[in-house]
Amino acid sequence: MTQDELKKQAAEAALSYVQGGVIGVGTGSTVNHFIDFLAQIKGRFEGAVSSSEVSSERLKSHGIQVFDLNSAGDLSLYVDGADEANGRLQLIKGGGGALTREKIVAAASETFVCIADESKRVDVLGAFPLPVEVIPMARSYVARELVKLGGTPVWREGFVTDNGNAILDIQGLEIQDPAAMEQQINNIAGVVTVGLFALRGADMLILGSPNGVNIYEP
Ligand code: A5P
Repeated sequence: MTQDELKKQAAEAALSYVQGGVIGVGTGSTVNHFIDFLAQIKGRFEGAVSSSEVSSERLKSHGIQVFDLNSAGDLSLYVDGADEANGRLQLIKGGGGALTREKIVAAASETFVCIADESKRVDVLGAFPLPVEVIPMARSYVARELVKLGGTPVWREGFVTDNGNAILDIQGLEIQDPAAMEQQINNIAGVVTVGLFALRGADMLILGSPNGVNIYEP
């Protein structure tokens, strides 16, 4: 099975958690499969709050109503992918650059179901470069502060987030205490969001594998 087929399998398994109301929908190739599956059960829920312009467009193209989080209130379910997940369901996210809105929608949701192919499961987070969204004028300052944490920040040149900001990807980290590092990076002036989802990780991880889906809870 290809990696894309494994992603599709995980996305389909997440459908059973859709119980109605307005649901939170993330960003990425795995979530794109989820959105396409959602189109088949449109009558079972009211609509979605999305974590990116790209996902909003895809939802709308299927005739699924997209709500503003401010009018939707708290959500019961958020479904999103990840770039890495550890055994405690702490995640690295933001490969697609949508980390800030993803973190907001995850925070506003009761249950976060993470969908991915099995290659995303790791023992220690950090092999995937850790994305950090920064206010453009603070980019170089934040990069110097990140070097002090032992990583090598690389500017994602030419990329602008949906919020008009820049991304630094930190290479070469071995993140032994993800919650502490999340707090530490969030405290640097100029940082909007770090792509570590440790303080609020996933509640459930659905991984596609050649033998079917595996479901993990922390
Ligand atoms: C988007 O910013 C990310 O957080 C995605 O959730 C993550 O990159 C997973 O993407 P794929 O589903 O494409 O692997």
